[in-house]
Amino acid sequence: MSEDLGYTEKVMDYFLNPRNMGEIPDANGVGEVGNPRCGDIMKMYLKIENGVVVDAKFKTFGCAAAIATSSVATELIIGKKIEDALKITNKDVIEFLGGLPAPKIHCSLLAEQSIKSAIEDYYERLGVDYTPITRN
Ligand code: FES
Repeated sequence: MSEDLGYTEKVMDYFLNPRNMGEIPDANGVGEVGNPRCGDIMKMYLKIENGVVVDAKFKTFGCAAAIATSSVATELIIGKKIEDALKITNKDVIEFLGGLPAPKIHCSLLAEQSIKSAIEDYYERLGVDYTPITRN
């Protein structure tokens, strides 16, 4: 099946055995983003302590690429300082997965956006002005 769809083994592994799937009941940053083209939705829950992402979980209603990329995104940001988590891009996630078929690249944007959205929510709860950081 994976060869037909053009997914790498790693994508299929993360799709079939997603890491960090679920909710964090006492999350202090929650982000939700959607892809208007396909209607897929991704929700990201973060637990941030002392400026570090100590836990991350996700719930994705979407395609295999959206599920795999959100799972990888949680793995990439756990243990990272907020400023470093904000630097994670969809390219990092794609690279980790060994690539995505071209028509599925856009799905990986949800992962990047959901991290930023959850961190934005974290700052909002603190009443702190949030300015997204973009990588150069
Ligand atoms: Fe919607 Fe992949 S097709 S995120």
